[in-house]
Amino acid sequence: MKIIDRPSLAELTTLRLGGTAIAEIRLDSLEDCERLPEALSLTGGSAHVLGGGSNLLAHDGDLPITLVRPLMGSRAADGRPAEPEILGTEERTDGRYTLLRVGAGMRVPFLLSWTVKRGLAGLEGLVGVPGRVGGAIAMNAGSYGCSTAPLLRSLTVFTPERGLQELGPEGWCASYRHFSLAEPCSWYMSASAVLAMKQADPAELRRIMQENFLKKKSGQPVHEHTAGCVFKNPEGQSAGRLLDEAGMKGRRRGALYFSERHANFLAHDTKCGIAGRTEDALALISEARDAVLERFGISLEMEVKEWPAWR
Ligand code: EPU
Repeated sequence: MKIIDRPSLAELTTLRLGGTAIAEIRLDSLEDCERLPEALSLTGGSAHVLGGGSNLLAHDGDLPITLVRPLMGSRAADGRPAEPEILGTEERTDGRYTLLRVGAGMRVPFLLSWTVKRGLAGLEGLVGVPGRVGGAIAMNAGSYGCSTAPLLRSLTVFTPERGLQELGPEGWCASYRHFSLAEPCSWYMSASAVLAMKQADPAELRRIMQENFLKKKSGQPVHEHTAGCVFKNPEGQSAGRLLDEAGMKGRRRGALYFSERHANFLAHDTKCGIAGRTEDALALISEARDAVLERFGISLEMEVKEWPAWR
């Protein structure tokens, strides 16, 4: 375990926005999770679990929060990226599956290339999605027909109320861009997960992954600083199309703007000479919501998480 004083959220999020937290507690093992309550009582502030910071909009200034970072599964003892642990295989009516244990801190792009190379299917839609496994699970990240929840076989989680527990599928509720534990808790952190991934032809998976990447590159601002899609898609609609038709593409305040490539991506122009302010991001989000409500009568729900989260 390592405790860092006053980490900058702007440095820890893909949107490159946000102020300073009280502390960052880095966890490298399950033993570290057991020592977490003691560490949190030393740092104070409300615990906010941070993965890759790719779905976050953090406020500016001094924030009354402590970042909890599960880094289990990110690095092996020799400093190289840790690999998933193969637990075995199982036969199902639709094919053979490999069970993998992965740490919450493993980077999604690493896991994707590791699994595709070995012919394990299920993540190829997530090509180009940054972040870490714990964060992907927490938001049930999805793209091009893939999402994380259907792959989950079990999950080791920490909650302040119950400590470390291994949960089976009855222990969580997952739906489109939503994941929560079935039993109430003040907050939770995933430590590791067991994924069941179907065996397939590596060449075919590579082809699907490349096809998805080309689609993503042509339709999404992959080279801009964003936090992915800002709003969830309303049932049967694309929030991007609604925002586009409501005139939000290119709308700008200070260093923040809605991307010209895809209207549901709020981006931060870090090179324009104006300091990025979360206030500008929030004002644009509110303008966008109002525009879509007025034009289509649809109330958009945020996908990006705003921090501090009020509990
Ligand atoms: N569209 C527009 N204007 C825009 C953006 C989109 O007209 O500015 C149109 C497109 O032309 C297309 C339709 O809207 O006809 C749908 O667009 P797209 O294929 O980009 O999909 P999306 O519904 O906007 C969703 C996910 C993405 C995911 C893609 C591909 C959400 C909120 N977004 O986007 O996920 O990558 O499908 O599966 O569910 C994310 O959640 O952060 C995310 C990027």
